Amino acid sequence: MKTYATLIALAALGGAGLWAQTPAQTGPVMPLPAEQAFGGGELTLSPNLAIELSRDASPRLRAAVQRLREAWSRQTGIRWSESTEGAAPAPVLTVVCDRSDSALPGLGDDESYTLTIDSHRAALHSARDAGALRGLATLTQLATRGPNGWSLPAATMRDAPRFAWRGLLIDVCRHWIPLPVIERNLDAMALVKLNVLHLHLSDDQGFRVESRTHPELQRLGSDGHYFSRTEIAEIVAYAAERCIRVVPEFDVPGHTTSWLVAHPELASAPGPYQLKRQWGVFDAVLDPTNERTYALVEEVMAEMGGLFPDAFMHLGGDENNGHQWTGNPGIQAFIREHRLTDNAGLQVYFNQRLDAFLAGRGKRVMGWDEILHPELPRDAMIDSWRGTAALAAAARLGFSGIMAHGYYLDHPDSAADEYLNDPVPAGSRLTAAERSRILGGEASMWSELVGPETIDSRIWPRAAAIAERFWSGEQVRDVGDMYRRLALVSARLTEAGVRHESNHEGMIDHLVDLNTAPGERQALRTFVDLLEPEGYHRVEIQIWMNQGTPLTGLADVTRPDRGPARAWRDAVSHYLFAPGALDRGAVAALAAPLDSWSHAARVVLAMGGRREYPALREAKVPAEGVLAAVAIAQAALNALADGRVLSREWQIEALATLDRAAADNLSATNLPFLPAVRWLTLAAGAPAAARRPGEPDWRARLEGRTPPARS
Ligand code: ACM
Repeated sequence: MKTYATLIALAALGGAGLWAQTPAQTGPVMPLPAEQAFGGGELTLSPNLAIELSRDASPRLRAAVQRLREAWSRQTGIRWSESTEGAAPAPVLTVVCDRSDSALPGLGDDESYTLTIDSHRAALHSARDAGALRGLATLTQLATRGPNGWSLPAATMRDAPRFAWRGLLIDVCRHWIPLPVIERNLDAMALVKLNVLHLHLSDDQGFRVESRTHPELQRLGSDGHYFSRTEIAEIVAYAAERCIRVVPEFDVPGHTTSWLVAHPELASAPGPYQLKRQWGVFDAVLDPTNERTYALVEEVMAEMGGLFPDAFMHLGGDENNGHQWTGNPGIQAFIREHRLTDNAGLQVYFNQRLDAFLAGRGKRVMGWDEILHPELPRDAMIDSWRGTAALAAAARLGFSGIMAHGYYLDHPDSAADEYLNDPVPAGSRLTAAERSRILGGEASMWSELVGPETIDSRIWPRAAAIAERFWSGEQVRDVGDMYRRLALVSARLTEAGVRHESNHEGMIDHLVDLNTAPGERQALRTFVDLLEPEGYHRVEIQIWMNQGTPLTGLADVTRPDRGPARAWRDAVSHYLFAPGALDRGAVAALAAPLDSWSHAARVVLAMGGRREYPALREAKVPAEGVLAAVAIAQAALNALADGRVLSREWQIEALATLDRAAADNLSATNLPFLPAVRWLTLAAGAPAAARRPGEPDWRARLEGRTPPARS
């Protein structure tokens, strides 16, 4: 804890660290409202604060106001008086919604609202429920503790989203993710104004919904882990209460092993088929030349279309490797007879039929990039996991689409990386009409490497930064300010019930036990926060992993984009690269946390050597990496502070050591601060005259983009 506080203070002093900029004018809210101005003064949150809601407010809006009251109670500890209608003692919050009703949420709903707060009253106004609920989310985040207690800042806001489709995909197939996890994530989505829950419901590893028409699908294809129809109705209702749509995905024709366990006769190669326990791209694919395939798929889609009322049905369509189609002479003959050209032609034939079938039931289909084909009906929508060029190609062909690429939460990208990725990047050459077809984006939580206990820590708080990318203007790109507000919203997310922070101690418990000394536990906490988990690459390192492997290893305990290591890296970056002289005073601050890091690594290394901590054996390589890197960083910082130049031999040896520390290790974790130690190594070996912070060639040299000069 001490280390962390030091680093925040350090970064704040630095002027360009993650938390360096604290422009009060942007306030606390994430996503940043479209227009906001803060006046002086504040509205005190006291038990006298009555909330006034018009009599014709819908049950949904009433419930949302009640949730605001409860959220404020948890935050402030204030007990509110009874809910009041009509006349209320001042000061009041009035919520006015012009046409309040409980219609199911739909694409393009009006989510705009205005909010005015002065020292006497607050007023939220919207045209529809969706806007009122977004405004209530803003109010939840606006409560701030100051010298006079809890209050709302005086402000005026006029807010509306940039994109209509702002989603979160949760894969419940690779690892089963049960109802309570889905519901707490819906609460979190509502807080950051995400409005689409995309459930990935069938894949090679599981068919996760109860089908009444084909119960053999869940009976044979789910290990008993699936949502009952009642649970689906509960999810849809819970989401609708928050003005969030639920889009189901049944991935066809590939990723269908779980269907083929019960129906091997519909595969394109002979069965039998068994559920997959590992991950990747498999050959199993439905046979689109078999009419019985359509009979099954259409019956299931019709049933699911009734269960999920949203206008969209996601058909997946990704990663069909075509091996079974190519290897099946009957299928190849069908392609020739129907002049379908190739496997892609066969897939679009399949998609055309499903599109027509679902259109007849009032549904629009969507699918991953691979469904894109000139002959795909233009009402289909593209979900682009391949990126800007693929989404632009779809938009040029006349398709609507959303961006998934760059927002994969199973990748350990930083919130900053995800935040700066734009569905329509600056410099896009799309016409206005083509741009208008890009409806937004989705953060995607694939579940190969997460279960109910760890999923929140991969989604949050990073998905809040992505939510801002989808809601706020494209010019909103200040990473420092984003991280400042992300820290605030992260605490609110915990209050809303997601467990990205609160499950962490339980995860530490998996590595230790009740007899572990408090000092050892503290060292372990410090150590795991220096590490980050590998992304999907983990399955190539830990090749034994399958669906049954407990997700309680070191990589599971670590979390992406952690503060201390990344903040230190940013502070080093500022020290070395910001214009001006290398600041000797900054060296002490940079060195300050390093002793505690090596202490933590030594303690963890010793624990890993003891029999009672088998799970910590895999900490050996990263702990040795921390020790070696800290020693190098300390030597380099000392040399820089003294104006000394370290020898070329020292540099070569240090760089080799850092390379070893950065190499794959069986724990499938990374040390995100290593790049900064590498910069320090190169800086400490550079001749004093070459040390020119602010100059591009200096930075290029340290970042390894030019070879180190002989000194
Ligand atoms: C995907 O990642 N295959 C959609």
